[in-house]
Amino acid sequence: MRVFASAWGWHVGGFALQKRPPVRAVNTIRHLYFHIPFCPKLCPYCCFYVETGAKHKTTAFLDALLRDVEEAGQRFALRPETIYFGGGTPSALLVEQLDHLLGGLRARLDLSALAEWSFEVNPATVRAEKARLLRAAGVTRISLGVQSWDDATLRTLGRVHDAEQAEKTYAILRAAGFENINLDLMFAVPGQTAAQWAATLAKTVALQPEHVSAYCLTYEEDTAYFRQLQLGTFRQDHDFDADLFETTMDTLGAAGFAQYEISNYARAGRESAHNFAYWRGADYLGFGPSAFSTVGRRRWQALPDTGEYTRRILAGESVEHFVEELAPATREGEIAAFAIRTREGLAGADLARWAEELREFEALGFLERKGDRVILTRRGRLMADAVAEAFV
Ligand SMILES: C[S@@+](CC[C@H](N)C(=O)[O-])C[C@H]1O[C@@H](n2cnc3c(N)ncnc32)[C@H](O)[C@@H]1O
Ligand code: SF4
Repeated sequence: MRVFASAWGWHVGGFALQKRPPVRAVNTIRHLYFHIPFCPKLCPYCCFYVETGAKHKTTAFLDALLRDVEEAGQRFALRPETIYFGGGTPSALLVEQLDHLLGGLRARLDLSALAEWSFEVNPATVRAEKARLLRAAGVTRISLGVQSWDDATLRTLGRVHDAEQAEKTYAILRAAGFENINLDLMFAVPGQTAAQWAATLAKTVALQPEHVSAYCLTYEEDTAYFRQLQLGTFRQDHDFDADLFETTMDTLGAAGFAQYEISNYARAGRESAHNFAYWRGADYLGFGPSAFSTVGRRRWQALPDTGEYTRRILAGESVEHFVEELAPATREGEIAAFAIRTREGLAGADLARWAEELREFEALGFLERKGDRVILTRRGRLMADAVAEAFV
C-alpha cells in the first residue's frame, strides 16, 4: 500500500459533497480496501492517516464501515476477489469488534469469488484467540509489520514491540493455520548498519515466510523523521541505502523469493493479487477514513477524519473529501509508472508516448527489452522512482 499512499500524495485539497453522488453506472467491483485507522502509538516515520487512543469511537466506526459497504452495494455490483485490511492497524481491534466487523461483512458481501483476504497485523496486537478468529472469518493472508529483527533498530523506529514478540506472533499466526504470511521490513533506518540489515534478512529467510515486503525508509513530510532530517539529526546516504537494497535483492533472490516488484518478493504463486490489481489499473473501492477509490476514470478519497467519517455515514451523508476525473493520459501514465516497477514491466507498444524517455533510460542502462516487454535492469531497479516518475 505504501506506493499508493505516496503516489497519491499529490492529490490534496478538493471539496466535500453534502449528499451521496448519484449512481453513475453499474460496475462490478472486484477489489476492496478497508482502512482501520487505530494504532497503539504513532510511529515517527509514518504518514498514513492514523489515530491513537481513539477506542471510544470504535464501535460506531465499525457500524459506519458496514453501512458504507451497504451503500456501496446499492451503487456497484460488489463481487470481491481480493480484500485488503490495512491502516493503521486493523489488528488493534478487539476480538469482539473483529467478530462484529468481519461477520457483518460476510453477511453483506458475496464472497464466492474471493481468492485473497489480506490483513495487516502489528506484532504487539495479536494473541492466539484473535489469530484463530481471523482465520475462521476467512482471512487468508497476513501482513506482519516486523520491520526489523534487531531491537536497537526497532527502538529507533519507535515500535511498540521487540523482535522476540514479533517472532512469537509469527508462531501464533502459523499455529492458527495461516499458510500465507508476508513480513514487512524496513531498511535505510537511521543508525542501521549493513550487518544489522544482513542479520534481519537472514532471520527472515530462516523463518520461511511466503512473502517479504522490504521498504526503503522514506522521509515523508509532516513526520517526526522528516523534521529530524531537516534539522540534520538524521542524514541520508543514498549510496549506502543502494548497497542495502542490493543485499536485499541478492539475499532474498538466493533464498528462492522472486522480486516481482521493487519492494516485494514472493515464493512462486504467493504474489499479492490485491497489489497486482492496483498495478494493472483495476477498479477498486476503499472504505474508511482517508481511503481512496477508483472506478473508471473517477477517483475519490474519503474524509481523513474518523469521527466525521462515522457521523456522516450514519447520517446518510457523503464522505467524499475530494474527487477528480482522471484524464485518460493521466491514468495511462499512472498505470505505466506502477507497471514499470514490476517484474513484467510494460509492453513496448504501450510506451510510444514516452519514446524519448525510453531511449534515454536504455542508454543509461536502466531499461532493457525482453521480447516485446520493457523492464528495469538491475541498475534500473536502483533508480526505479526516477524512471517511474518520467511516466506521470
Ligand atoms: C500501513 S503500514 C501498516 C502496518 C502496521 N500498522 C504496522 O506498522 O505494523 C504498512 C507498512 O508500510 C511500511 N512503512 C510505513 N511507513 C513507511 C515509511 N515512511 N517508509 C518506508 N516504509 C514505511 C512499514 O513496513 C509498514 O509495515
Ligand atoms: S503502527 Fe503502522 S500504521 Fe500505525 S503509525 Fe506505526 S507504521 Fe503507521
